[in-house]
Amino acid sequence: MRCTDSGGDRDSVEEQQRMGDNRQHERPDGDSSPGQGQDIDASIRAAREGIDPLHVPVMLDRIVELLAPALSRPGSVFVDGTLGLGGHSEALLKACPNMRLVGVDRDTSALERSAERLAPYADRTHFVHAVYSDIPRALDEAGAKEADAILLDLGVSSPQLDETDRGFAYAHDAPLDMRMDRAQTLTAAEVVNEYPVAELTRVLRTYGEERFASRVARAIERRRAQGRLDSTRELAELVREAIPAATRRTGGHPAKRTFQGLRIEVNAELSILKETLPAAVSRLGLGGRIAVLSYHSLEDRLTKKALSALAVDTTPADLPVPLPDSQPELRLLTRGSELPTDEENERNPRAQSARLRAAERVRWPSRQ
Ligand SMILES: C[S@@+](CC[C@H](N)C(=O)[O-])C[C@H]1O[C@@H](n2cnc3c(N)ncnc32)[C@H](O)[C@@H]1O
Repeated sequence: MRCTDSGGDRDSVEEQQRMGDNRQHERPDGDSSPGQGQDIDASIRAAREGIDPLHVPVMLDRIVELLAPALSRPGSVFVDGTLGLGGHSEALLKACPNMRLVGVDRDTSALERSAERLAPYADRTHFVHAVYSDIPRALDEAGAKEADAILLDLGVSSPQLDETDRGFAYAHDAPLDMRMDRAQTLTAAEVVNEYPVAELTRVLRTYGEERFASRVARAIERRRAQGRLDSTRELAELVREAIPAATRRTGGHPAKRTFQGLRIEVNAELSILKETLPAAVSRLGLGGRIAVLSYHSLEDRLTKKALSALAVDTTPADLPVPLPDSQPELRLLTRGSELPTDEENERNPRAQSARLRAAERVRWPSRQ
């Protein structure tokens, strides 16, 4: 796939409807359900089985196919808001020789690794340490008015899981940290040791989708009487004991959901995403494209809401003709959310909970 191809259009919504594309994943109520979030067990399994998930960017071909058509113009700008190991960025730099990359990550080690990996493209790359809600600032800093393509590949990266001292994985003993940006102050230890039990229950239930959130939170509260709980292994064991024995045998490690809930809270993942989507889209040029890969139903729901809201004609129903100023700003490039193929899921278990949505700017908002 090269930038001059118009491959991304092949799967426009209309085309998919004609072709009866079976990669879509939308329940009849219009909501997608990406399951249990990013599969940490799967990443660990893959690493053990010798599949190196470091080098396997999720839905890579499809993302290149969707974004490359917007990046053919000399000087076009691609913002990778979640640079990670730079896998998606590298593929787009290769496919689109005219584009410049603005690579954003909140994790300085991700930026260092990517800068090394993408050194052959140093004259076309600009790296910014920031949260992705700062995409407008990153563009300003790179001297770019607009983005021609934006990618958000949400969630944790494989190195974050593998660097045992960072406390993301229940499989290794480490301090309860889980910060993607180690300059921030809130850690998982603070949530576990200091949040009121009702608040802790909400985090585990909402972000972790933990059915036994209240039992787990109360077990943590009881444990607080013995002093500070600061070890991933101890927390994982406490969660295992708090969950009814009959349900422990299904759905992977019993602590998986608690760890996911804590990670989302510590990194404020959902509130930042909510704020980011409109801000990022507002800097997307005409014909520019945005793609978002989610690993959790709440992320996918926020993405769906933000993109769909701009993809509808808002002419009041009682008017006889569509108003030009009420026409959609975006055209959806995916119908519902797209799933990885079975073959990709088999090859890269990390892909299993991924859901992809993409859209293209077709109109500028009218000036007030
Ligand atoms: C799943 S990885 C991205 C992998 C990347 N697409 C690749 O091909 O290697 C997600 C990355 O996004 C970063 N990240 C997560 N939330 C972020 C945020 N709010 N702002 C900036 N970076 C974020 C993480 O630090 C991590 O490096």
